[in-house]
Amino acid sequence: MSDPMVVLAVGDVVGAEAAGWLAGRLPALREEVGADWVVVNAENCAVTGPSPMNGFGMTVEVVDTLLEAGVDAITGGNHSWDGPDVDTVLAYAQVVRPANLSETRGQGVLTLRRGEQVLTVVNLLSPTAALPGMTAPQPDALWPAWLDLREREPLPGAVLIDLHGESAWEKASFVSALDGEISALVGTHTHDPTLRGHVLPRGTGFVTELGMTGRLGFTGGGFDPAHFAAKLRGEDISALPPYELATGPLALGAVAIHLDAAGYTRTITRIQ
Ligand SMILES: [Fe+2]
Ligand SMILES: [Fe+2]
Repeated sequence: MSDPMVVLAVGDVVGAEAAGWLAGRLPALREEVGADWVVVNAENCAVTGPSPMNGFGMTVEVVDTLLEAGVDAITGGNHSWDGPDVDTVLAYAQVVRPANLSETRGQGVLTLRRGEQVLTVVNLLSPTAALPGMTAPQPDALWPAWLDLREREPLPGAVLIDLHGESAWEKASFVSALDGEISALVGTHTHDPTLRGHVLPRGTGFVTELGMTGRLGFTGGGFDPAHFAAKLRGEDISALPPYELATGPLALGAVAIHLDAAGYTRTITRIQ
């Protein structure tokens, strides 16, 4: 299938500051982990000042910062269509947006090649993460969309799926249905990391949630939870100040995935 590889997968980077922090650490981190490829979910990188959507989507500046630091592929999710630079960001060769919806801009699948090392990155958006009022197109149901994608796309080399979804059971069910067919599946979107990395019986690696990369705040999501609490209470969030990023220490949400020459996962370990 491909040469053995190590993939460093990093979860939802929240805010430009966190992206800069990750970029600064990346050369050392890459060496420490022995990473051949770095795949980063950056759907929350846009910081658009007074916009009420602070931290949603990506900006060209932040994407450039990550790519210049050596990130090989940038994935997204329900926020791939937010932010001021959507058209430009989706046009980047290294940016992947969810594949399972009707969209002509951008790509849902990206194949990385270096010598004999070949890694295909697929981004999927679960309908569970398609929130009311979002700007993202409505995603198609995962299983039929995957069957359709598998039919349409060649998916060479090792295959890594970033499944952006709300439900832990849905991610576990989906990866179980794909055991032995893909190299690994990493969950994103809920931002709070799950502890364990799993290797399924037929060799597919799995982590339920990579976790966000950014400031922890009080709930670990990278955002001040004022809007979320107000929404829960049924209050008018337009009366609130913009979404604010969290304060507190910076945290990394990441795993290292060790793949063998056949593209199966040998180990999947959390990187703090
Ligand atoms: Fe996110
Ligand atoms: Fe998300």
